[in-house]
Amino acid sequence: MASQNVALCVLIAVFLHVSLGQTPPKSEVLPEFLALLENHTVTQGRDVFFTCVVNHLQSYKVAWIKSDSRAILAIHTHMVAHNPRLSVTHNGHNTWKLHVTNVQPNDSGTYMCQVNTDPMRSQTGHMKVVIPPDIMDLDDTADSLTAEENGDLRLRCRATGNPKPVVIWRREDGRNITLRNEHQGIKRMPTYEGEQLHLRGIQRQEMGSYLCIASNGVPPTVSKRYYVNVRFKPLIKVTNQLVAAPVDSDVLLQCYVESSPKALNTWYRNNGTDKISTELHLKTFTLGVKLLKDEKHDISEVIINDYAYQLNLTIRRLDKSDFGTYTCSAENAYDITAASIRLQELQIPKPTITSPCNTEVIGKHAWRKPTEKKKYESDLTPKNVGHTTPISRRNSSSSLPNIVNKSRNSVFPAPAPAPAPAHSAPTQLDAQNGVRSSRDLQLRHIGLAVVVLIIFNCD
Ligand SMILES: *[C@@H]1O[C@H](CO)[C@@H](O)[C@H](O)[C@H]1NC(C)=O
Ligand SMILES: *[C@@H]1O[C@H](CO)[C@@H](O)[C@H](O)[C@H]1NC(C)=O
Ligand SMILES: *[C@@H]1O[C@H](CO)[C@@H](O)[C@H](O)[C@H]1NC(C)=O
Ligand SMILES: *[C@@H]1O[C@H](CO)[C@@H](O)[C@H](O)[C@H]1NC(C)=O
Ligand SMILES: *[C@@H]1O[C@H](CO)[C@@H](O)[C@H](O)[C@H]1NC(C)=O
Ligand SMILES: *[C@@H]1O[C@H](CO)[C@@H](O)[C@H](O)[C@H]1NC(C)=O
Ligand SMILES: *[C@@H]1O[C@H](CO)[C@@H](O)[C@H](O)[C@H]1NC(C)=O
Repeated sequence: MASQNVALCVLIAVFLHVSLGQTPPKSEVLPEFLALLENHTVTQGRDVFFTCVVNHLQSYKVAWIKSDSRAILAIHTHMVAHNPRLSVTHNGHNTWKLHVTNVQPNDSGTYMCQVNTDPMRSQTGHMKVVIPPDIMDLDDTADSLTAEENGDLRLRCRATGNPKPVVIWRREDGRNITLRNEHQGIKRMPTYEGEQLHLRGIQRQEMGSYLCIASNGVPPTVSKRYYVNVRFKPLIKVTNQLVAAPVDSDVLLQCYVESSPKALNTWYRNNGTDKISTELHLKTFTLGVKLLKDEKHDISEVIINDYAYQLNLTIRRLDKSDFGTYTCSAENAYDITAASIRLQELQIPKPTITSPCNTEVIGKHAWRKPTEKKKYESDLTPKNVGHTTPISRRNSSSSLPNIVNKSRNSVFPAPAPAPAPAHSAPTQLDAQNGVRSSRDLQLRHIGLAVVVLIIFNCD
């Protein structure tokens, strides 16, 4: 190919020389270039052209030469190089264009537009071919995406492109990447640069999606997602190991589980008489009777993150036989674990005053955490008759001062939500007093005032 080109080159030089000798331009004016040849940076696969503008060409010819390989590409509009992607157009006047379609990396280099004067006149332009980044599929990455906790994981991302792409890693959810190193300890950073991300001593918190992003200034930037799986034995945490609730109420028992792969979770009831021992993973637990979802029991799971979730067991309308010990268990391929919660009865003193609210309220009481239990028990003073009030109802006391304020401040507020008669407005209630001594109040007013007082009473 090269020798052919050289031969052609010589031939053409001879031809040009001969033709020059044959038709010496009589004019004093020599051809001149009107503009510099452009420089091009082209993305691979695109089309591009160089424009050569020559005035006073007369009978001289314009030739295109790839100066780094010295290959003659074209003379006038005649193609010399056998490259279907090259072509020359002439506008019939002074403009020649060398077109290159579907640009390839080996098209890069210096192009010359030459006129066969003696000495020849020429100008050159450069073409740089760039290639957008691409991420190669490496077979070995698939397996290494799962590691046991404290193990090592290497994520690799080899990128091609011109110029050579820069590869950075980041976590899809924006959390920091944790890098552990024997010498420098732990480093946390939002991004890491390099084709290989080595996660040493990987922890469960590092589970999730990682992105490798390759960029080299040539759009589009590309990325690849890797899902990192960290496997470990299941763990159960129970924040409220002791739950007290009154008969007839609904209660919620909760276990927090961390497990990867996801565990098989089960609730058990130890009812004292039947103790069923289950032997799994060479461990023995006294689990009891397995609970299933039914009208009495609601069992649900809420996913917290990639490896943690909350197990809820709601027991409805507690009766005496429901009190006892409940156990949640979590089992995955690595291990089984379990934790127990004691549910005991909360004795409620009988109400001393009957009000229309008290009877309505009983039975709606929801579960309470032991942390709330203290508060709950300290509420059990005689004055707080309606202590089984659902949580939502408690707000009525805190919102009460607002109501009182309003009626105080503006006797008859125009845009007020006011079916309240004017004479009921100036209520003399103090908010605090209102809550504390509500039972002592007489229902003296009609309209909204009456409603407000009933809310007081209910609290
Ligand atoms: C093309 O690049 C060369 C060298 O890089 C430079 O000397 C020349 O001026 C450039 N031409 C144009 C038209 O910018
Ligand atoms: C340039 O590369 C293209 C595609 O890779 C190829 O077809 C062509 O033969 C190459 N041309 C030269 C002169 O090497
Ligand atoms: C990530 O690490 C950087 C530097 O180590 C720190 O400044 C930043 O607060 C961390 N961000 C998060 C979300 O932890
Ligand atoms: C304990 O559970 C077993 C199996 O469901 C049942 O037969 C038994 O009556 C229960 N005992 C008590 C005291 O509830
Ligand atoms: C489980 O209990 C938590 C805490 O009360 C609650 O936020 C969540 O919605 C419950 N999930 C289900 C499915 O009942
Ligand atoms: C009740 O009060 C709690 C906290 O005091 C608040 O978060 C909640 O939105 C209130 N509910 C209503 C219905 O006002
Ligand atoms: C209620 O009254 C108190 C003092 O009496 C005042 O600080 C507060 O802003 C009032 N609230 C409203 C909603 O008017």
